[in-house]
Amino acid sequence: MNYNAGSIIKAYSKRARLENDSESERSLRVEIPRHFLHNAINAGDIVLDAGGGAGINAAYMAKQCKAVYLMDITPSILNYANKNTKSIDNIHLVRGNIVDLMFPNESFDLAVCLGDPVSYVLDMRFQAFDELIRVIKPRGHLFVGCNSKYGYIQNELSQNNVKEALNIYRTGTTRCVMGPETHLYTVQEVTDILKKRNCRIIRTGSTSSFTLKDDSVSTDEWEALKEMEMTLYGQPEWLGGKHLFFLAQKTEA
Ligand SMILES: C[S@@+](CC[C@H](N)C(=O)[O-])C[C@H]1O[C@@H](n2cnc3c(N)ncnc32)[C@H](O)[C@@H]1O
Repeated sequence: MNYNAGSIIKAYSKRARLENDSESERSLRVEIPRHFLHNAINAGDIVLDAGGGAGINAAYMAKQCKAVYLMDITPSILNYANKNTKSIDNIHLVRGNIVDLMFPNESFDLAVCLGDPVSYVLDMRFQAFDELIRVIKPRGHLFVGCNSKYGYIQNELSQNNVKEALNIYRTGTTRCVMGPETHLYTVQEVTDILKKRNCRIIRTGSTSSFTLKDDSVSTDEWEALKEMEMTLYGQPEWLGGKHLFFLAQKTEA
């Protein structure tokens, strides 16, 4: 299936408030990537947050670096980002698409692309990776998240949805909760994409607790669960989570 930007913009426009709420609430879905980010950012960094959503990650990163450029494709999501970040001087908002970035080569120390834009762009995913890597400085970092093929298969099998599990196995795509088609990656596919583009993988991880909210467990359990997942997310056995993360470094100009 071919990438259709309009269907993604429509889906995110409909759920802009939900997206804002889900980024703002306490969940492992947002906390685990922030743990990655915390370790990846340096004080002098200029950061691109591509598909940056309602800006909660950008606000988090802006405290730890020189400047954050939050780019997103959906106007109503950018309205939320504007509200959430307007008092923060070192965040700049721009509208754009990861398949065609408006930034010059080697503009950023770190490019972040979380919450699956590289999955939504389907057949244009190679161009999206080209672009994200083009705008990073030599020795700069890329932190990218995407949907996991094997994680989705495990999830379908755990609900006895054998037909969909086999469909995902054959096609490597499925419909995400919002409706549009999404490309599901294997660790091997992302590894090959990054290596071909002169990037060295520093860390791979996954999270399976996408829907777990803090109100479903006690505070003690929450802290214990978070600590457990932060220890386990990079272990090979744990890579059944529905989301994969890759921290990589660009090795040459
Ligand atoms: C699930 S949200 C993630 C937001 C944030 N990065 C996070 O991890 O919390 C995905 C965001 O990506 C944006 N998006 C989807 N496809 C995109 C594309 N091709 N280029 C730029 N943004 C895109 C959507 O509008 C949405 O705001």
